[in-house]
Amino acid sequence: MAVIRSLTLEDIPIIAAWLPEVSLMQRYGMTAERTRSRLTEAHAANDLLLTADLPNETACGLAWCLPHGMFGRSPYLRLLVVKNGITGGGVGAALLSALEDRLAVGHGWLFLLVTDSNTAAQRFYTRHGYRQVGAIGGYVLPGVVEYLFAKQLSQ
Ligand SMILES: CC(C)(COP(=O)(O)OP(=O)(O)OC[C@H]1O[C@@H](n2cnc3c(N)ncnc32)[C@H](O)[C@@H]1OP(=O)(O)O)[C@@H](O)C(=O)NCCC(=O)NCCS
Repeated sequence: MAVIRSLTLEDIPIIAAWLPEVSLMQRYGMTAERTRSRLTEAHAANDLLLTADLPNETACGLAWCLPHGMFGRSPYLRLLVVKNGITGGGVGAALLSALEDRLAVGHGWLFLLVTDSNTAAQRFYTRHGYRQVGAIGGYVLPGVVEYLFAKQLSQ
């Protein structure tokens, strides 16, 4: 069972070592150096950063949320990613659920983008109560459609 906790500065080099191996992250140009600098900036900016520990793995997942990243009023889940080799074991679900718990008070909706071809992630989010509320072509990468997904956390 994964333990979910806030990310510390010590976790950043650990995550930067595995995150670029995830093929989706390569597609979005996430090198180790870029991961390190983006996460360091996010930590300094007080973004909501959660990581996961397993008995034999420290910092093996990441949820990165901008609390007012959507329209300046709703949280935006910028990144949810789990280390290669341990996907499918519930770490992603545990990160998402812990994030929702932290946001549930005072935040109505949680938004995120999913690449059109990432049907496994779309299934994952749908199972967790998210639904597609829009689509944006070429927003992040040229020629790639991003689906906007959202879930209402509280009234
Ligand atoms: C999507 C992701 C965060 C889910 O985390 P996880 O720990 O694998 O998820 P869980 O074990 O809680 O749930 C497994 C489900 O995740 C989905 N999934 C998405 N990518 C997967 C992958 N590479 N391997 C296994 N399951 C994956 C599947 O729908 C799977 O359910 P299924 O049995 O119906 O196929 C994780 O698989 C991942 O990091 N994928 C690559 C990066 C990514 O796509 N991030 C989302 C971008 S918006």
